[in-house]
Amino acid sequence: MKKIFAISGSTKTSSTNGLYISAISQLLGKDFEVFIFPTIADIPHFNPDLDSVDPPQIVYELRKSIQLADGIIISTPEYAMGLPGSLKNLLDWTVSSSTLSGKPILVLVASTQGEKAYQSIIDTLTVIEARISPLLIPFAKAKITSEAVIIHNETLESLRSLVRSFVASIENG
Ligand SMILES: Cc1cc2nc3c(=O)[nH]c(=O)nc-3n(C[C@H](O)[C@H](O)[C@H](O)COP(=O)(O)O)c2cc1C
Repeated sequence: MKKIFAISGSTKTSSTNGLYISAISQLLGKDFEVFIFPTIADIPHFNPDLDSVDPPQIVYELRKSIQLADGIIISTPEYAMGLPGSLKNLLDWTVSSSTLSGKPILVLVASTQGEKAYQSIIDTLTVIEARISPLLIPFAKAKITSEAVIIHNETLESLRSLVRSFVASIENG
């Protein structure tokens, strides 16, 4: 059983990105166990002074979960032409520890438009040398039901191909 650690850039309870994480989990199938990080909003503001071998407990747990995972899913909306602050904050905590370096990451931007957030997360994950399989889904809310069923054929095909690329990246070590 492969372990996948999923992070949503949305702090909403009822979230389109949460639905996409569910849809991706279904596409991954039974050989993958997906754990969704529940507390992105509780991570303290990044502070280099606290970014030591003894960081805040929640940051320690976040880094440990990422280290133990075979692959990571990050699915996020765009806010005000960029990444949501909560997600950028989480990513900043992973930089000096190189926690995401070399990790296979399925990156989804599910938003109304999303181009800026898409470019931004690719730039950030590239500079920290993650191995990314990225996809942008504009008008994302209209393409998925509240039961996480993708109702847009092209999007479903793109997601299947994305998942294949992610799985290959995990299997290639
Ligand atoms: C404050 C705010 C700003 C937003 N700005 C953008 C934006 O710049 N570009 C965009 O594509 N969508 C923007 N949106 C729309 C969200 O990205 C979109 O509703 C997304 O599907 C929400 O995903 P979620 O349900 O997972 O939170 C914004 C939404 C909010 C609440």
